[in-house]
Amino acid sequence: MFARRIAVVGAGYVGLTTAACLASLGHHVVCADIDADKIARLRRGEVGILEPGLPELVTEGVAAGRLSFVVGATAAVTRPGLPVEILVLCLPTPMGEGGAADLRAVRAVVDEVGALLPAGCVVVNKSTVPVGTAATTAGLLGRADVAVVSNPEFLREGSAVHDFLHPDRIVVGSASQGAAERVAALYARLGAPVLLTDAASAEMVKYAANCFLAMKLSYVNALAGLCERLGADVLEVTEGMGHDRRIGQTFLSPGPGWGGSCFPKDTRALLQIAESVGVDMELVAASLRQNDTTRELVVTKVRAAVGGPLAGRRIGLLGLTFKAGTDDLRDSPALAVAALLRAEGAELVGYDPAHPAAVPGVTDGIEVVDDPIDVAKGVAALVVLTDWPQFRALDWAALAGVADAAAVVDARNLLDPDVLRRAGFRWTGLGRG
Ligand SMILES: NC(=O)c1ccc[n+]([C@@H]2O[C@H](COP(=O)([O-])OP(=O)(O)OC[C@H]3O[C@@H](n4cnc5c(N)ncnc54)[C@H](O)[C@@H]3O)[C@@H](O)[C@H]2O)c1
Repeated sequence: MFARRIAVVGAGYVGLTTAACLASLGHHVVCADIDADKIARLRRGEVGILEPGLPELVTEGVAAGRLSFVVGATAAVTRPGLPVEILVLCLPTPMGEGGAADLRAVRAVVDEVGALLPAGCVVVNKSTVPVGTAATTAGLLGRADVAVVSNPEFLREGSAVHDFLHPDRIVVGSASQGAAERVAALYARLGAPVLLTDAASAEMVKYAANCFLAMKLSYVNALAGLCERLGADVLEVTEGMGHDRRIGQTFLSPGPGWGGSCFPKDTRALLQIAESVGVDMELVAASLRQNDTTRELVVTKVRAAVGGPLAGRRIGLLGLTFKAGTDDLRDSPALAVAALLRAEGAELVGYDPAHPAAVPGVTDGIEVVDDPIDVAKGVAALVVLTDWPQFRALDWAALAGVADAAAVVDARNLLDPDVLRRAGFRWTGLGRG
């Protein structure tokens, strides 16, 4: 394997994981971010996100002299020494106007460093970007001697390092076969299947995969509602479905709607892309509508649990992050349900293992406590919104002892109803007949 000299721009969930993992594979990586504080903390060995194995990989990479951190993309591509061979963009592409992906960060970095890149350098885009972005990036660069490659990332937060190092597949798309092969070779040691394709198809794979997963969850959430009406148990139903290898067991758990930093923006971006070329993606639109319905269903269950309107009722929230194993609160369904509860006048108290204190501007309106017993004090109901496994092992009898009314709405079907009932709780799940 050739050890390449790589600059990674963006030190977030994707960028920092990419930088640390590529360094662990033997490459020489400089990782840049616009956020000087983040870079200062990384230089001190402080990884600001909850990702198992990432702090260790960062420490190892730095100690081995294969990983370093700089402020700004320019510093990453103009470092003294041998020229950078591959520039990897791991920049945010949040939801912009009309649902379209906001590409300003990607364009800003390409503008900033385009003229500084050495001849033969390859620009790799790992951000999730609309089909055609590789082509427009090449146009923006205006460099016949610099190829652009799309290499979408599929890692999941909470298992980012594992997913990066054990990918189901590597997708690499470019108009330049040689550049695509150079990028694929970065991952040669992983032994994963590689799809070499054109840039537009590579960009589309990412949206196609994320939207399919969102649709699968919306379908399961709709099934949960139906099972409940018909007296069927959605857990039995999904187990029966999942044994079919064409369906599989994953992404079959009902919950309070899907969220996180990717699915909401990627579904809307795909809809916007399709609309721009006059194609109707009604399935994706329906999945988004179902997601709203699911959140409202949880609120209906909380109303039923407290036996009436929510105004002035104290409700305890178990979990704030969008899923277990991450500290990411972006577009969390837990916070979306919290907003609906608050809109009905509920007073909210929340507990999340990854957030011992309030996060200003994000958890506003929720009293965040750092002890699960405090989330139960004086509440009319508890709502499980995130699938943190440690919630199963809470001292439920103690929680029942401090609650005003011992009612649990388990929007993740996480808890054992028998354990809860023995502790004195009335338990309601989703779709359990
Ligand atoms: N988070 C995920 O699970 C995940 C998975 C796969 C793909 N993606 C995609 O990867 C991309 C990045 O996502 P993320 O979650 O890592 O985002 P993030 O917000 O965690 O990280 C982005 C980083 O880029 C930095 N940045 C912004 N503008 C910059 C600039 N001009 N120069 C240098 N740095 C700059 C930010 O300071 C931030 O640290 C998005 O397109 C996302 O859709 C994310």
